[in-house]
This record gives sequence, C-alpha cells and structure tokens, in this order.
Amino acid sequence: MLTLEHIDSISKEFSSKLDQANDLKSLEQIRIEFLGKKGKITLLLRGLGDVPQEERSSFGQKINQLKNQSENLFKDKAASLSSEESKKPAGDWSLPGLRPSVGRLHPLTQTVNEILDIFKRMGFEAIDGREVETEFYNFTALNIPLDHPSRDAFDTFYTPHGNLLRSQTSTVQIRMMENHKPPFKIVAPGRVYRPDTVDATHSFMFHQIEGLLIDEKTTFSDLKGVLSFFLKELYGANTEIRFRPHFFPFTEPSVEVDMKFSSKKGKEDWIEILGAGCVHPNVLESAGISSKKYQGFAFGLGVERMTMLKYGINDIRHFFENDIRFLNQF
Ligand code: DAH
Repeated sequence: MLTLEHIDSISKEFSSKLDQANDLKSLEQIRIEFLGKKGKITLLLRGLGDVPQEERSSFGQKINQLKNQSENLFKDKAASLSSEESKKPAGDWSLPGLRPSVGRLHPLTQTVNEILDIFKRMGFEAIDGREVETEFYNFTALNIPLDHPSRDAFDTFYTPHGNLLRSQTSTVQIRMMENHKPPFKIVAPGRVYRPDTVDATHSFMFHQIEGLLIDEKTTFSDLKGVLSFFLKELYGANTEIRFRPHFFPFTEPSVEVDMKFSSKKGKEDWIEILGAGCVHPNVLESAGISSKKYQGFAFGLGVERMTMLKYGINDIRHFFENDIRFLNQF
C-alpha cells in the first residue's frame, strides 16, 4: 500500500539522481525513470485507489506537489546542462588540423610543361595537333609511301571510315607547313597511338613532342645546338649526348640522339632519347613549301621515356594506372 515514506523515498531518490546527472543524455534517462508514462512518480498517482478514502486527498495533494516540483527541478537542470554543453568546444582545438589533399599535375604534364618552357625560351611556339588523322598526314606526306617498309614501324589503329589515330606527332609538321608561310619554329605535344602489346616499356598510347623549324638558312649544326641546349637544360649541364646516324623517311640526314645514363647500380650506358634530322625536300614539297627556297630541321621525342629517365621510373604502366601512391610523389 502507498505510504508517505514511500513518496518521500521516491522524492529523495529523484533529487539525488538529478544532482548526479552531468549530461543531457543521463538527464533524459532520469526523466523517463521518474516522469515518463511508466515513471516512478507518475505511477504513484495510480496507487491512490488503494489509499483509505479519508487520506486520499492529502496523499493526492502530496503526490501532485512532488510531481510539479520534480518537473521544475528537471527543467532547471536541463537548462543549466544544455548551456554548459553549448559552451564546451566541439573538439580539442589544440590538435593539429587535417591537411586537405591538394591536387597536382600528372608527372607527364609536368614534363611536357617543362620541355615546352625550355623551347619557348628559344623562341619556339607551342601548338596543338589532331589525334584523329588521315593516311596522308601520318604517312604519305611524311615521305612514307604505301609500299614503304617503314610504315610498319608507325603502324596504327584505323577507324571504320579509313581515318586513323596518329602514330607520331610528325603529322603536325605537315599541317603547320600547309597553313603558314616560313619562317616559323614550333613545338607540338600530344598523344600518339600504336598497336603495341602493353609491357614495362610499351603502351598502345603514349605522348610525344614534335619540333619543327623552317626558314631559308637553318642547318644541321643549328639542330645540334638547339637539342644540346635543350637536353642540358632538362637533365643538367653535365649531361653527355651523342648524335648517331639513323634513318627516318621524313628527314635527310637523320640522327638518333643518345644520352649517357647511369643506372641505379652505377652502370653507365647510352640510351636513345629522340629522333631528328633536316626536313626532307619531299616533305616540304608535299606540304606546298618550296624546297629550293626553304629548309629546316625537325625532331620528335617521347615524353614517357624522358620522364622515366628523369625520375628513375622503371615501368611505363605507372603513368596510366592512377595509383595515388605513385602520383603523390611528383
Ligand atoms: N616521328 C618519329 C617517331 O615517332 C620521331 C621523329 C624522328 C620525329 C625524326 C622527327 C624526326 O621530327 O625528324 O619515332
């Protein structure tokens, strides 16, 4: 049966628990325990039925008093706890901040920019070319006739309508010469495509930079000067290079340029890094430029190879796999 002592003990229990509550979450537990639908204080009212008639009203008054009082105490406590919590900092402000991850240029783009920059300092202008080309620009105009065996070296992908993906940036030479009157000097970066099986040194898509200078008197020794300066700027003043006779259909004479390279194990070797030569008269003529009046030189280099040598990268596939652990190093 409901007794005054029982009411009193619940009142005390409520006060002491309220005192101890130190956050809003535990306060909510106390509200449910005492003032909720099945709370201890709420249930006291239901016990009134068992109290003898003559005492019922004074019991009722007492319980209602306790209920009102408890509700007020609860509200005060809730207000003070929530203002305390709002004053607390949301975290430990003395901790070091989170470093935002900042984007950067792909290592190949960095190399292209660096190379273009060196040539711009020598007065070359950077231009764009097309990736989808015709046989004329990729082969015929570059002095590679249909039956010439060197077509194999520049084999490529064809579209169903007879166009192709260029297999060398040399195509840009023809487009430039067709539309501009010499003198001019340009560099043209871009993608090229070859049906190569992908391995550590081959990719079906890679990047080249083409260079072309046409005027009335530029010779092979100018070519040597320009390329020597370029390679020393890119790889350092002590870089050793050599010009080795070679064949390209679009230049005569033609050379391959090698650079002395020492591997991580300290072994030294020459490694081929670009092709170059004096523009073949047939190439000038097929682009509508008089080979009697004009001459010049051209060169082509592979951006992946240049980048691999610069940083000691041993697998071309790293460039195309988008592995953040690789890319973050540049
Ligand atoms: N197009 C050649 C290649 O893809 C590179 C090249 C060689 C470009 C000699 C030139 C050049 O302009 O003169 O292998």
